[in-house]
Amino acid sequence: MKVLYIGDIFGEEGLVYLEQNIEYLKKTYKPNLILANGENVSYGRGLHFTHYQRLMKMGINYVTMGNHTFSNVDIKNFINNSNIIRPANIPTDIGKGYKVIKYNNKTVTLVNLLGRVYQNMSLDCPFKTLDSILKESKSDYYIIDMHAEATSEKIALAHDFDGKVDVVVGTHTHVQTADERVLPRGTIYITDIGMTGPLNGVIGNTKEDIIKRFRTGVYERAGVEKGPRQINAVIMELDGKKSIARIHLEETNLL
Ligand SMILES: [Fe+2]
Ligand SMILES: [Fe+2]
Repeated sequence: MKVLYIGDIFGEEGLVYLEQNIEYLKKTYKPNLILANGENVSYGRGLHFTHYQRLMKMGINYVTMGNHTFSNVDIKNFINNSNIIRPANIPTDIGKGYKVIKYNNKTVTLVNLLGRVYQNMSLDCPFKTLDSILKESKSDYYIIDMHAEATSEKIALAHDFDGKVDVVVGTHTHVQTADERVLPRGTIYITDIGMTGPLNGVIGNTKEDIIKRFRTGVYERAGVEKGPRQINAVIMELDGKKSIARIHLEETNLL
């Protein structure tokens, strides 16, 4: 089974660029399942219903989230009847932290987790949360989106569950890492898939806003960077000789 996983889609820029390239990605990589992280789709924070509908229209099968899951508070009105999965270790009854997807005669448990290092949120332990999910959900494949800031937390989780799950992909830091590999017991891993959105911002946001924030120490709301765009994703083969390859597309960067 081939799975295409698209990294954090950021703002209208990310959404439109993906809409322009999704057919190319489907034709080139022929995925059986298309997954994406959607926590930044709407203006960089959260996911609005109309934007969710555009993800579904593109043929994305399921959308995982992260620390911005509830940044658009209206998501509470549609998350329960959607193909959205929010981090399983957010201690809420709203939405689902994992779902069992049927694919041909097989089942895939797709899990979203949120790291606790450098996350100022009330969260259960992602490791123990995944222990419980593996006990209660029996399926042919397990795919985990570990949405976390710290590289070490993502690598630790992947090694802890190496051989017990098929895939651990990292999201959240928005910069694609070059450490994609198959771990010793067979789990496919990458620390971060990278982001799908503006190429020249600061992880998606307008660079001037973020530079000002760093230079002055004063928090200001940041916009979404305009200009050239990029797509970051991975294509993975879960059967036979397992593999993972990075995908990176970008528009010309010349001023
Ligand atoms: Fe993100
Ligand atoms: Fe995030």
